Amino acid sequence: MPSGLLARAVIAAGAGCPLLTGTYTPTQPSAPQEFAYQLRLREKPELAGAAYAAIDVCELALPKNALTAMIGKTSIPANLPARIDEIALLGDTGCRVTSWEVQDCANTSNWPLARISRNIAKSRSDVTIHLGDYFYRETGCPQTQQDFCAASPPAPSNLPAPGNAYGWIADALIPMQPLFDAAPMLLLRGNHESCTRGGIGFFLIFSPDLTTALQCAPTLVNGVVTVPTNDITPTWHTKWTVGATDATAHTFDLEVIDNAYGNDNVVDAFAATQRPSYVAAAKNVAKTKPDEAWLLTHRPIFGMVTTQFAGAGSVWSSADQTSASQGLLGNYNLLLASHIHVAQVTTIPGQPSQLVIGNSGTYLDAVTGYPKPTYGPLSNPDGTALSPLAAPYPAPSSVWTDVRFGYVIATPKAGSSSWLFDQRDQRGQSFAKCDLVQRTMSCK
Ligand SMILES: [Fe+2]
Ligand SMILES: [Fe+2]
Repeated sequence: MPSGLLARAVIAAGAGCPLLTGTYTPTQPSAPQEFAYQLRLREKPELAGAAYAAIDVCELALPKNALTAMIGKTSIPANLPARIDEIALLGDTGCRVTSWEVQDCANTSNWPLARISRNIAKSRSDVTIHLGDYFYRETGCPQTQQDFCAASPPAPSNLPAPGNAYGWIADALIPMQPLFDAAPMLLLRGNHESCTRGGIGFFLIFSPDLTTALQCAPTLVNGVVTVPTNDITPTWHTKWTVGATDATAHTFDLEVIDNAYGNDNVVDAFAATQRPSYVAAAKNVAKTKPDEAWLLTHRPIFGMVTTQFAGAGSVWSSADQTSASQGLLGNYNLLLASHIHVAQVTTIPGQPSQLVIGNSGTYLDAVTGYPKPTYGPLSNPDGTALSPLAAPYPAPSSVWTDVRFGYVIATPKAGSSSWLFDQRDQRGQSFAKCDLVQRTMSCK
């Protein structure tokens, strides 16, 4: 894509795609000119049927050097600034409705995604990064929980996956509306967007790629509607300049991994299947040699759950991803992920710090039980290797965990790879400040 940006519109099915209009400068310097293009219908999987019958999705790559852009009568962000000076970060945002746990979707303090979106939109962020897990309405609202989720109907039963248009509208399109107006978005795929969960909707609505509409398309296997499993979309990357002044400006590379699948507790054969994603990212950073690089994944490389979940097992999560990426993290300044429903920073000696932002709306994890482990990722609690396939990392030098709803505003400071990550609560109040210096983050 010439601009690197896609314009998208989700419309009532059959309504017809609107126009994309605006102004751009074809060559610099020159007077702005107008453009008007018809958005194109994004392909919908043929067998998606009733689950996604209510909506159509229209799209087009935005022209390079766009100054303004509108879809129909709605203004949309037209470009990424030449120098990125503020980034908003959030992850894990949908309202959980499952047979075992129902979140209070009707209460904006207990499911604060709409409030968080409004507060991010009020910031001056140049871009918003969502680290994945949008879709959480995986069952109909139980009769006994109507106060919490009466508006959540069950998914149509035509698919072997709970995702459906209504769930995506309720979990993402309505509460995140302020974000769509505010700034371009970089959107990761979470495990809730695997093909057996919300994947069809993710690839219809949010996947930032013109070619992925049918990634989770169901097929008939022996007469049974079947969706792909363990599919991985290719690693992609984007290179920006950050820093508003000549003194602070530097090149900045983001490597984006699809790690929707994999085992969190053991290293199994999937680690080898996933490894090429990390190899591709490492090769690209080695080739493009940015001043600074971050690795973006949904499942963290070095994230830990509460001891209340782990029991006698290891607190370190995403074992397949930790193993798949081992030895390939040398060129990153930061690892950025969500998946665990907390805000967390861990530092493993010799590795880039891991920031987890999984606290942006979905039911939070336990508030307590995050002491600094005496053992590292890929270890059992007694220090022995979790798997003969992977060498254990050393114990962390620091762990910081906070369990409240919120998001992060990141701003570069003078010098390459020096950032302030401001941890904000759902009302936009700062509750912690995390400094990244070179490859190490510390919070206070
Ligand atoms: Fe999640
Ligand atoms: Fe997740």
